[in-house]
Amino acid sequence: MTTAKRIDGKAKAAEMSEKIAADTAALREQHGVTPGLAVVIIGEDPASQVYVRNKKKRAEGCGFYSVQHSVAEDISQEDVLQLINDLNNDASIHGILVQLPLPEHLDEQAITQSISPGKDVDGFHFVNIGKLTSGNTADAFVPCTPAGCMLMIEDQLGRDLSGLSAVVMGRSNIVGKPMASLLMQANATVTITHSRTKDLASVVRQADIVVAAIGRANMVKGDWVKPGAVVIDVGINRIETTVDGETKSRLTGDVDFESVCEVAKAVTPVPGGVGPMTIVMLMANTLRAARLSVGLNA
Ligand code: GUN
Repeated sequence: MTTAKRIDGKAKAAEMSEKIAADTAALREQHGVTPGLAVVIIGEDPASQVYVRNKKKRAEGCGFYSVQHSVAEDISQEDVLQLINDLNNDASIHGILVQLPLPEHLDEQAITQSISPGKDVDGFHFVNIGKLTSGNTADAFVPCTPAGCMLMIEDQLGRDLSGLSAVVMGRSNIVGKPMASLLMQANATVTITHSRTKDLASVVRQADIVVAAIGRANMVKGDWVKPGAVVIDVGINRIETTVDGETKSRLTGDVDFESVCEVAKAVTPVPGGVGPMTIVMLMANTLRAARLSVGLNA
């Protein structure tokens, strides 16, 4: 029986953060510019509150100018668009992020598309999606979660994935689709699975690289995984467990970590895998936007 390597996203993110902080200090000294990140959070979704708090903490740790706009659940579409317009025109802000999901009455697409492509550090604007899918990755803002997953895959397998097969579980615009684009760009042979896929386990079993982004706690079992595969777990599921009659809630991924560890080469844990990498990629994108704003290359 083998035991997979546990990929430490938390440690990698901390390392990258130090480098971003050093580059931020240099940018300030040499060009008088401090990267500015504005995060807009609408309503009281508790998970979103936690994510936004972590993003702010990390931004401050990197030496950024960090602003948070917490607005009421019942804000009008017009007022959200006005806020984004103000941020688009604010020279101290280089990156804008509107935390998703949004309340039902708001038009998510109109809101994400109203962010200037050059400040779109989430990589959700059609201009950035187009750049990524057409292979102009160097010129695009790439969505943070897939970008972070890709760095962890590269650490395990190198930058050229020629001859390797990858299965991306989930076809969302935030993770699945951009993840598939990045893997294709690195020469992997890519399959995207989703809720209508037949014989899911047998499809996953073909893969040298598995990225699970389906939102189903512990769904991917050890016997779904090809021996020696690299498994990246994007899931964040809150589940209740009862220990000694006491009910506790804890976070778990889409991957059944223990059984998958018995067959895979390397697996990301939840928490401590993809999550911290997502946040640090947001910082990397914001630094990049600030550098581009003074004519430096990314
Ligand atoms: N909600 C969950 N993930 C994300 C993300 O990457 N960006 C934004 N803006 N909202 C999210």
